[in-house]
Amino acid sequence: VKRIAVLTGGGDCPGLNAVIRAVVKTSIRRYNVEVVGILNGFHGLVNDVMIPLNEEAVAGIVHRGGTILGTTNRDNPFRYAVEQNGQLTFEDRSEQCIENLRKHAIDALVVIGGDGSLNIAHQFHEKGIPVVGVPKTIDNDLSATDYTFGFDSAVTTATEAIDKLHTTAESHHRIMILEVMGRYAGWIALYSGVAGGADVILVPEIPYEIEKVCNHIRARNERGRKFSIVVVAEGAKEKGGQMVVQQRVEQSHDPIRLGGIGQDVARKLEMCTQMETRVTVLGHVQRGGSPTSFDRILSTRYGSSAVDAVMAGYYGHMVALRTPRIEPVPLTEAIGTLNNVDPEGQMVQAAKSVGISFGD
Ligand code: F6P
Repeated sequence: VKRIAVLTGGGDCPGLNAVIRAVVKTSIRRYNVEVVGILNGFHGLVNDVMIPLNEEAVAGIVHRGGTILGTTNRDNPFRYAVEQNGQLTFEDRSEQCIENLRKHAIDALVVIGGDGSLNIAHQFHEKGIPVVGVPKTIDNDLSATDYTFGFDSAVTTATEAIDKLHTTAESHHRIMILEVMGRYAGWIALYSGVAGGADVILVPEIPYEIEKVCNHIRARNERGRKFSIVVVAEGAKEKGGQMVVQQRVEQSHDPIRLGGIGQDVARKLEMCTQMETRVTVLGHVQRGGSPTSFDRILSTRYGSSAVDAVMAGYYGHMVALRTPRIEPVPLTEAIGTLNNVDPEGQMVQAAKSVGISFGD
């Protein structure tokens, strides 16, 4: 192996730059291998937009959010959207990608991405391209790894938001609802809710009954706790109801944001408790900014181990945290089945033990 290419795919996430930096430094310092950066995820691979990455290019970025390579969650080379006469058609551009990799004498590809990007990585692996994946997402919904990088940073941001909501909730005797991201998984809500001392946590894995949430809040009021903090995962759903985020994720090419679950919960809680409610939708704040020290360390370990995996020939694998080690695992174990919160797991049990309601 003489030359490695690296790309960042899907939504951005704190820690991406720390991974890129570690890939570049490890390749050059440890293996004397060159690195090429592919710009804007798979878009750059299809359209042949690549830049050389040396140590200077990655200097001073370990603490910076976002990705110096750019990203997009639109371009799937196997189903590449092309506009013709105002109409969208989808074409397979994977051969073009393979041709571009050959043209630049690239021996292996490191894909830093979540479920979608690693699925594409796996498809390239099946076409004979030497690929290694790195698990990225604030949602922590990838299987086969203890944690994805970016999750801890998102949880930290959400926890800070809960801390701030606490003081204003208490002053005004209000119910404060914080809607957090996570797609179909409730990890961000669960972890930030526990860390921030929330009173109610609503997650997709545990369908809630609004009446039970109301009862919990009423009981708090009777104890003199005349405010409540409710953390709602964007994918949470009422028993027998529908997931709002599902429509949004499926229509992610549509720039119009659908109304969130937070508003719906607020309206219903206001009716049944007669208390004032306010909603905060944390949105992309939890994807931006500096990674936490945990994420910087994890990202550095992932980036460095991804190059080790390339050099050891672990193609079609993803580097995964199997505490305390980072190990290569087949991509097939990471993709396909999402990693969800276990409703019976220790984390949910601990949350319930300290009095947090899940509305179940
Ligand atoms: O997967 C990361 C994530 O931030 C999800 O939590 C969220 O549902 C989605 O991406 C938002 O995507 P976009 O940036 O396209 O709005």
